[in-house]
Amino acid sequence: MSKENAAIKNKFGVEKLYSALGQELDKARENKTYKYEVPIEGKQSGVVKVDGKETVMLASNNYLGLANHPRILEAARKGLDEHGFGMASVRFICGAQKIHFELEERIAAFLGCEAAILHSSCFAANEAFFTGLMSNDYGQRDYRDIIYSDQLNHASIIDGIRLCRIATKTTDLKAYKHNDLAQLKHFLAEPDAEQYRIGVIVTDGVFSMEGEFAPLNEFVDLAKKNDVLLFVDESHSTGVLGKTGRGTPEECGVHGKIDVISGTLGKALGGAAGGFLTGKKELIEYLRQKSRPYTFSNTLPPPVVTAAIEAFKMLEEDSSLVVKLRENTDYFRKEIVRAGFTILEGIHAIVPVMVGEAAIAQDMSAELLKEGVYARGLWYPVVPQGEARIRVQISAAHERKDLDRALAAFEKVGKKLGVLK
Ligand SMILES: Cc1ncc(COP(=O)(O)O)c(C=O)c1O
Repeated sequence: MSKENAAIKNKFGVEKLYSALGQELDKARENKTYKYEVPIEGKQSGVVKVDGKETVMLASNNYLGLANHPRILEAARKGLDEHGFGMASVRFICGAQKIHFELEERIAAFLGCEAAILHSSCFAANEAFFTGLMSNDYGQRDYRDIIYSDQLNHASIIDGIRLCRIATKTTDLKAYKHNDLAQLKHFLAEPDAEQYRIGVIVTDGVFSMEGEFAPLNEFVDLAKKNDVLLFVDESHSTGVLGKTGRGTPEECGVHGKIDVISGTLGKALGGAAGGFLTGKKELIEYLRQKSRPYTFSNTLPPPVVTAAIEAFKMLEEDSSLVVKLRENTDYFRKEIVRAGFTILEGIHAIVPVMVGEAAIAQDMSAELLKEGVYARGLWYPVVPQGEARIRVQISAAHERKDLDRALAAFEKVGKKLGVLK
């Protein structure tokens, strides 16, 4: 070891690393940015147990209530019995089961695309799309690619773009202001926009901090007009938006017109884990060869696959859960406003209840839990300063009495903390 390196090691080194980590954690606790996890007893559902107490769950993405639905549990059990627990290697080495291919076909058909590819999570799928697609010169020289990305896109999109740009150094990024189509149009019309080989517009279908969706009809037109791909992350939308749960494209009247959709099986579609990309056959087949998180990581466990197949079957059979979710959401949105709270208006099951300062959101979340209501507070830097909120997430698993209990607790705590007059 050189003298210089030895000096650096003496200055820091492994022991000091651990002590620095401890200090950073203490700082996070002091700043109230430390993330605490609440132990839940029993199964995820509309009402859960916390410290032995019945608690209305308003903080999970279990939009359709499938995490604990008898049909999903039965399908998972059957998957375990008939197909085993795991595959014990990656697909190109040990193969995949028929159920994996069946699930991919169902996903593509449901979302109006030609083909789909499973990943271990949507995080991995998003990373795979950017690094996989933009990792090849396709026989071209002196090319550059460009990504147009909403500034509020999910962390997995941000990380996927980062990784792709570090790896290829040939991809530019223009991050437009949240849902600001005027700025996006401006970027697309810039004189140098023509020089790019491939362009991709990237947006979340639904933005999880706001509970609002991207106007995909306008995005479809823009992408077509400018000959760029449109990529939409539908993690919070499939099973939630659209008359039949086909997500933001259905809500906006452009079902079947999105180039690439990514999504998760870890929210409305059973809530376990798993992600996917769906789009044109050539693109999906290409990603089977090039996606590193697909090539070098195990595929989904069979019980998760059979349960997800069942979730898609349920959505194809009828829209009763989608309708119940929408009715529950409409009811909660109307009643919380009637109680005097300010919310971000919309139609999605994510209902941000605005409370202003971080300290109020923190206290309110804690007081609500004491009242048997589990709802998460969000504050800066996750959302802009002064826009702290309690993010409520409604589920088809909620009954009217659960929502009424939650509303009564909001009123009581809101008055106690001075959010309501
Ligand atoms: C918009 C969005 N994309 C991707 C993900 C990641 O999904 P997964 O849990 O399947 O990795 C999330 C999860 O929070 C999300 O909200």
